[in-house]
Amino acid sequence: MAKILFGVSGGIAAYKSLEVVSALRKRGEELKIVMTEEATKFVAPLTFSVVGKCPVYVEPFQSIEGSVIHTTISQWAEIMVIAPLTANTAAKMACGIADNLLTMSALAFNGLKIASPSMNVRMYENPITLENIEKLKKNGWHIVEPESGHLADGEYGKGRYPKAELLIFEIDRMLTPHDYEKKKVLITAGPTREAIDPVRYVTNRSSGKMGYELARAAYLRGADVKLISGPVNIDAPYGVEVLNVESAEDMKRAVLKNAKWADIVIMAAAVADYRPAHISTSKIKKTSDELNIKLVKTDDILKELSKIRLSSQFIVGFAAETDDLLRNAQKKLKEKNLDMIIANDVSRKDIGFDSNYNEVKILCKDGEIISLQRNEKRLIAHNILDTIKSQSFKEF
Ligand code: CTP
Repeated sequence: MAKILFGVSGGIAAYKSLEVVSALRKRGEELKIVMTEEATKFVAPLTFSVVGKCPVYVEPFQSIEGSVIHTTISQWAEIMVIAPLTANTAAKMACGIADNLLTMSALAFNGLKIASPSMNVRMYENPITLENIEKLKKNGWHIVEPESGHLADGEYGKGRYPKAELLIFEIDRMLTPHDYEKKKVLITAGPTREAIDPVRYVTNRSSGKMGYELARAAYLRGADVKLISGPVNIDAPYGVEVLNVESAEDMKRAVLKNAKWADIVIMAAAVADYRPAHISTSKIKKTSDELNIKLVKTDDILKELSKIRLSSQFIVGFAAETDDLLRNAQKKLKEKNLDMIIANDVSRKDIGFDSNYNEVKILCKDGEIISLQRNEKRLIAHNILDTIKSQSFKEF
């Protein structure tokens, strides 16, 4: 678990840091909190201490563990987070002023640094503040931009504290080793929808969760990620460019258009194998007792891709099977000319479609088979990326 030094400076958004601190504490992170004197006017140190189950320091010039406090806590932490970062604290930090425990600790700290400026829009947009924030960026601070919207004082504009989820995601991204740095990863996810008429379509039960977790994990690990997504009910992962598509034909076009860009392609989408031969332009009325819809095969995107693939690219498929998992997956690995295929049993109710869990077998081109036990898709995604890395680096 990470050792996090969490700094709170004195803005109205200080209370929003309680949610972030609470979430970090629940995950088991080790926290120490530093507040400016001004921040204590908005939220009592006791509240942060109880929510974070951790010490909260305000006073400089005291000793802990036999050393002055700012050097002790700044050496202890691996990451320093300052949220909210006020215009005043940003200005001091940009000039190297260390006149309270927070600015002293920030100046002494040389680990991973992340800050989230929140303030009134006019203070934020003042060129002096923007210049100070630029200086902090040059000095290694990763800045999470404030959101635009209604501000506490009734004004509207940029300056809102970001969503707790985003700040935590950015903290995670800093803490995660960037072993996919400079890698371009193209991922497909979700089902496709094949229109019958303007109101009806043929689709499948894919939720898109596995592909979205892969996209999220790859971005956390430093990759540039494009996600081509069929219709799903999942929020776009932070930092990932999402290209929304509907039909297998749309998905094919989007994949082939972006294929050359990618070092790694992961086809996690459940592409429809058949589509209606004709799409009725008007709603089909229920005039007859039976309705036959002629279906025709869609193009196999992976097969098309393998025709134009670059030799440096690493292509991964998924095999959704209800029977004979390994044999069917082996066949697809070969026929689609893949480097790797992830086989999952979609007949099981406790994993796969729409579940947050999965259990998969990874079949590599060299014949190696890796079994991943049932686990959250979030973690399975990282295991899959570990295997891609170990397999692809042989070829890259
Ligand atoms: N796939 C594809 N284009 C299609 C169908 C599937 O690129 N028209 C990809 C999927 O994204 C997946 C892999 O091929 O990565 C295997 O998909 P799957 O549905 O398991 O198998 P199919 O090839 O469709 O064969 P079958 O449905 O007969 O099992």
